[in-house]
Amino acid sequence: MADVTITVRKNGPYIVSGTVEVRDADGNVYPAKETVALCRCGASTNKPFCDGTHSKVGFQAAEQAVRGQPRSSARRGRPGSDRPSM
Ligand code: FES
Repeated sequence: MADVTITVRKNGPYIVSGTVEVRDADGNVYPAKETVALCRCGASTNKPFCDGTHSKVGFQAAEQAVRGQPRSSARRGRPGSDRPSM
């Protein structure tokens, strides 16, 4: 099992569990917590953290994990893979 787990909440935030460091755009570190909820709706007044506003604005996310497609380590980090570009 991974040291860090990111759980996508249906129509809600990303729940990040594990030892992680969250930094702002200037590299400043937010106070450490074992579990954080990161806003993905863009409406939180406490970004990058979720403040529950997603439910008030009716945020809807359509994405779901696709079962039955094993991940290949060879795919990781390639363009078009599931890693975000920086
Ligand atoms: S995901 Fe909760 S406020 Fe944006």
